[in-house]
Amino acid sequence: MSSAVTTHESALLPIEDQWEEFVAGRYKEGKDESEYRIYDEKSDPRVAAFYRENHQKQTLAFVLEKEKEYYALNKGERSIWEAAEFLNTLVDESDPDTDLNQIEHLMQTSEAIRRDGHPRWMILAGFLHDLGKCLCLYGEPQWAVVGDTFPVGCAYSDKVVFPEYFRANPDFNVPELQTQYGIYEPNCGLDKVHMSFGHDGYIAHVVRDYMPEPALYMLRYHSFYAAHRQGAYGHLMTPHDVEMFEWVKKFNPYDLYSKGHTKPDVKALLPYYEDLIAEFFPAKIRW
Ligand SMILES: [Fe+2]
Ligand SMILES: [Fe+2]
Repeated sequence: MSSAVTTHESALLPIEDQWEEFVAGRYKEGKDESEYRIYDEKSDPRVAAFYRENHQKQTLAFVLEKEKEYYALNKGERSIWEAAEFLNTLVDESDPDTDLNQIEHLMQTSEAIRRDGHPRWMILAGFLHDLGKCLCLYGEPQWAVVGDTFPVGCAYSDKVVFPEYFRANPDFNVPELQTQYGIYEPNCGLDKVHMSFGHDGYIAHVVRDYMPEPALYMLRYHSFYAAHRQGAYGHLMTPHDVEMFEWVKKFNPYDLYSKGHTKPDVKALLPYYEDLIAEFFPAKIRW
């Protein structure tokens, strides 16, 4: 890809596709744990550079500041569909013919869930799951929007991808933030745990009054691979979290492996989604 093309991508998510391929490869079905590391070392240098920046800059202080800023929901009122269309202005121009746009990715995920006969709230969760990426359109850098998420304010698990990059995080040198529990109590529950900031936590917060609890878990933790794929951070979870993570695990393959199916016919599907959205949401919600 020429650098001339890259300059057109400034408002985009240049590493998004590489990241998705990277994660899909990392968690390819049937792969055992020893293979994860081999894959990491050979991974795309852009993905590695992305994680280097993400792990370095997602400090507890940064997360608290962003939660305060965005969880106040003062970025305007929009309907769910308006939010989807807004997100759709985020286009990966590097390969417009073969890549799905944002709405197509959302619908491909939700349609795969629908085909398997899951409940309506889960289909809707599929459609909502990446709407928080509008953080990019608010001007957030991609290391604060996408990528694996992890708890901040306590020791980093080596199950988080590229754990060696955490050494550059200022929190790494604060002993009280590096004990197993850090600022948390044993099995305090994930709702008390601050996760690295990103689109997952934001969308879960935006829809928290409208969607059922398992859907909120799916949304909030869909990029928390260290926990839902590798079982890390159980020491911060309650038995209820563990139970709810069964839903997160159920959701993950639809996000990861629905690519490659045919493009959804957005126009034809729109009436179905308008009904589905109206079943759970008022005309407009705060973002
Ligand atoms: Fe996502
Ligand atoms: Fe996604």
